[in-house]
Amino acid sequence: MQLQLSTWAEVEAYLRRSTGVIIPIGSTEQHGPNGMIGTDAICPEVIARGVGEAADALVAPTVSIGMAQHHLAFPGSVTLRPSTLIALLNDVVLSLARHGFDRFYFLNGHGGNVATVTAAFSEIYAQTSMVREGANHGGIRCKLSNWYMAPGVQQLSKELFAGVEGSHATPSEVSLTFFAYPDHVKQAEMSPRVAPTGTFYDAEDYRRRFPDGRIGSDPSLATVEAGRRLYEAAVADVARDYREFLAAA
Ligand code: NI
Repeated sequence: MQLQLSTWAEVEAYLRRSTGVIIPIGSTEQHGPNGMIGTDAICPEVIARGVGEAADALVAPTVSIGMAQHHLAFPGSVTLRPSTLIALLNDVVLSLARHGFDRFYFLNGHGGNVATVTAAFSEIYAQTSMVREGANHGGIRCKLSNWYMAPGVQQLSKELFAGVEGSHATPSEVSLTFFAYPDHVKQAEMSPRVAPTGTFYDAEDYRRRFPDGRIGSDPSLATVEAGRRLYEAAVADVARDYREFLAAA
């Protein structure tokens, strides 16, 4: 069930059977020579929609711009400052909490978001912890789940792309976007075939170290079929994890 395709009356009815919501969160940033700029937002969005159907969960609009300052030396990349992203997530959660939602499951597609999203959760909890009235409520609970870390996904990535998965513009995430948008499959020459690995600082430093945008990967191996298998593994794992999150005391 997608929030944007629902009426307020449908959301009101949903709240009588569940107070959980899934919020896909990604990024708008370069993904190497054949990866779509929306990769990190597209992946959690399509998985969340599958989980929404499998687990009767409401899926909120995707937070499709994240913390991606290190990609800004590549055209098309857009970032929020960490402080902006924290403020945005705070407002999204508190808006939904006003209606009675209290279990917020963030399905993330971008490693660069993790520190900031975790800080946003602390910001949200601080507001309820600092007022004594909060003590009588069940309280808001937020969970961050990275789709690419799901056990079934990790196992499949290893099986399909051993040694060339890397950590950015991976064949797994590119495959998933090809599965989601088969009319937008792109091919490009990779040179070197497997990208270098390492750490980075700001945007200029990143582009100097990783000239075509990839880190440690060979996404020329990405296929629609691999994307389908990764999608199915991700939906199964995330649906289970979401149900456990709702059921936890
Ligand atoms: Ni990515």
